[in-house]
Amino acid sequence: MSEIIKANNISMKFKAVDALTDVSIDVAPGEQVALLGHNGAGKTTLFRLILGFIRPTAGSISIAGSAPGSDGARRTVSYLPEQVAFPKMLTGREVVRFYARLKGAAMSDVQSVLDKVELVEAADRRVDTYSKGMRQRLGLAQALVGKPDLLLLDEPTSGLDPLSRQHFYELIADVARQGGAVLLSSHGLSELEAKTDRVAILRKGQLVANAPLADLQREANLPIRIRVRASASAVDRVHAEIGGGRINGASVELFCARDDKMRILSQISGLGAQVEDVDVAAATLDEVYRYFSKTGADDASRRTL
Ligand SMILES: Nc1ncnc2c1ncn2[C@@H]1O[C@H](COP(=O)(O)OP(=O)(O)OP(=O)(O)O)[C@@H](O)[C@H]1O
Ligand SMILES: [Mg+2]
Repeated sequence: MSEIIKANNISMKFKAVDALTDVSIDVAPGEQVALLGHNGAGKTTLFRLILGFIRPTAGSISIAGSAPGSDGARRTVSYLPEQVAFPKMLTGREVVRFYARLKGAAMSDVQSVLDKVELVEAADRRVDTYSKGMRQRLGLAQALVGKPDLLLLDEPTSGLDPLSRQHFYELIADVARQGGAVLLSSHGLSELEAKTDRVAILRKGQLVANAPLADLQREANLPIRIRVRASASAVDRVHAEIGGGRINGASVELFCARDDKMRILSQISGLGAQVEDVDVAAATLDEVYRYFSKTGADDASRRTL
């Protein structure tokens, strides 16, 4: 399959700031990729390079085989910027019509995207009466119009409530199902669970992860928390047997490596009636994200528990 985005070893320097260093990333048709990273990690810079607004200091990018910013690339890409702003005097429908004309899309597409983002009722109101979430949905509508081959969405879910977020991810999954490629940036890994094919994490301009979420969880190999509630008289014995720390009188908590989990659970089950309950919790996605955004890909310390 030929990639829509092909970025090879790109670096971007702004005077003294290394915004991106030696980043290579590809996105194929039908793929949804999430780009994560702290403030200033380089996400928006990568979007601006893909759009051809700026040129990399080193490396190369092609968009569906064309140079970023060329007519060929521009026909391929739709963009929802980080700070979405529309002329206040226009209505939502007029805004989407404007973008439809710009992209040579059919006018029938306008009603269909307004419908998708649930703005039909407000479509004929001026944009300055819209709430933040409505403006964000209008931004998504202008990006969806004309069925783009590549959707670039810079923090598209900021300002959206949980239900709207869910609906948003359904809409972009539709785009991917129809063969469009999606690259979206976000600050949180937890909202992305099962919603993207791949997660790319930038840390201070370097790509420190680029893999499906399940692979990242496995690679991070973060400790698993086991909490054991002992029967009233047995808590000291349980603690002596399995180690860890005492919490709230009757419970013992310990952390173990994934590979050790079954051995420890069978040790706990061997304690029989001395144990009343066991709770096992894997690392949360936020912890996985924190792990990758704190440590570099070649940092040996990440392997330690
Ligand atoms: N035009 C510019 N001139 C100078 N420095 C810039 C310019 N654009 C970006 N930078 C710097 O490049 C780095 C990356 O910025 P970028 O906007 O790509 O981060 P980001 O990951 O999108 O952050 P955020 O989550 O805050 O939106 C930052 O240190 C920023 O100050
Ligand atoms: Mg940004």
